[in-house]
Amino acid sequence: MGIYADQVLPRLIDKLCGAKDMTVLRERAVEGLHGTVLEIGFGSGLNVPVYPPEVERVHAVDPAVVGRKLAAKRIAASKVPIDFVGLDGQQIPLPNASCDTALSTYTLCTIPDPGRALAEVFRVLKPGGTFHFVEHGLAPDAEVVRKQHKYEPLNKRLAGGCHLTREHWALLEAAGFELDRRTAEYGKGPKPYAFHYIGMARKPA
Ligand SMILES: C[S@@+](CC[C@H](N)C(=O)[O-])C[C@H]1O[C@@H](n2cnc3c(N)ncnc32)[C@H](O)[C@@H]1O
Repeated sequence: MGIYADQVLPRLIDKLCGAKDMTVLRERAVEGLHGTVLEIGFGSGLNVPVYPPEVERVHAVDPAVVGRKLAAKRIAASKVPIDFVGLDGQQIPLPNASCDTALSTYTLCTIPDPGRALAEVFRVLKPGGTFHFVEHGLAPDAEVVRKQHKYEPLNKRLAGGCHLTREHWALLEAAGFELDRRTAEYGKGPKPYAFHYIGMARKPA
C-alpha cells in the first residue's frame, strides 16, 4: 500500500469529504436509517453525527486503519454503539438477514467489485430492509462522461481506486434491490467528480 495510501489518503478524505455540501447530502442519504445498521466504507466516521435517533447500533466495515483512528472522537461522542466487524465490503462477516438497514456514502466508487459488495449488503439485510446511499458516478451528459473516462485512470491512482464512471442504478438493480427513493444531480465541484446518486433501495420482503 505505502505511506500515501495508508497515512495521507485517509486524512485527505476526512478533510475533503467533511465539506458542508457533502454533509447536506449525507443527511438526505441517512433518512429512514434505523435499528441495526451495516455501514460499508465507514472511513473516519463522517456519518456518525448525522445518524437518525432511530439507529440502535452500527456494524462498520472498512480496511483503513488510519480512518478508524480519525473516527475515534466521533465514535466516543456518539450515543450509538459502533463496532468494527470487517475490512472488506465484498466479504462481510455477518449472518444472513441480520441487519435492518445499511449505509454507504462515497464507497461503491472505490470497492473493487461493487456488484459483489452489493450482493453482500443484500445478503445481510433482513427481507424488506433498506440500503441508503449517496455515491458519485457516471454523469448523464456526453461531454462530462468523456472527461470522466479520461480522468478515471489517474483518479484511481490518486484516490485509492476511486472510479468516476460507475452507474449505481444498474448496479443496485442487478443485485436484486428495488429502488424506493432515487435522485441524481450535480453537486458542488467539477462535474466529472460531482454527479451524485442519492437514494434508498429495498431488499424485497
Ligand atoms: C471516499 S472514502 C469515503 C469514506 C466515508 N464513507 C465517507 O463518506 O466519508 C472511501 C472509503 O471506502 C473504503 N474502502 C475501500 N475499499 C473498501 C472495501 N473493499 N470495503 C469497504 N470499504 C472500502 C476506504 O477505506 C474509504 O474509507
